[in-house]
Amino acid sequence: MLNIVVCVSGGGTNLQAIIDNIENKNIRNTQIRGVICNNAGAYALKRAENAGIPAFCISPKVYGSREEFNQAFLQKLQELAPDLIVLAGFLVILPEQMTKLYENRIINIHPSLIPSFCGKGYYGLKVHEAALARGVKITGATVHFVDEGTDTGRIILQKAVEVLEDDTPESLQRRVMEQAEWVILPQAISQLASGGDL
Ligand code: GAR
Repeated sequence: MLNIVVCVSGGGTNLQAIIDNIENKNIRNTQIRGVICNNAGAYALKRAENAGIPAFCISPKVYGSREEFNQAFLQKLQELAPDLIVLAGFLVILPEQMTKLYENRIINIHPSLIPSFCGKGYYGLKVHEAALARGVKITGATVHFVDEGTDTGRIILQKAVEVLEDDTPESLQRRVMEQAEWVILPQAISQLASGGDL
């Protein structure tokens, strides 16, 4: 059994895709031990609650310093003892201590074809705004291992998505989620759960 912890910050549609794919057995042999969220108002917390998954809000706002927040976050992770940590729309940069401790055991979904439109400052809608501003005709999503850099770890899966003439950042974001993110994130977890390299 692969025990996973899913880290989220916002709407949690990628979390939902994982929950649904475990339920319909596209992902086998996997259990979500817990969901960790850095944002108290995130709908992702509600999705976890609806699915009966223990959810924990660890917000930097509650702690006196970044160091204290990092320690609280690490402590919660260690309590949950996951085999794999899944960053599913988690907009916090992980401290190096954590990426070292969980080397090759943290994966992230990013809404572009890395190495395009990734790295510091490229997250959420900003990624799609940049893709439209550059005029690319193809974009997509990437699942990759997390190392000490931002979006620099080894790539596991990618899926391309066509950019349409009349796309807005919002319409493009939605299509990338539907056609790529909600497909390849569950697929990557499934691969790792059935004995792929961790
Ligand atoms: C997703 O598009 C995810 O790829 C992106 O945030 C969104 C979260 O949506 N992540 C990043 O940009 C990370 N750099 P969700 O909360 O509905 O899953």
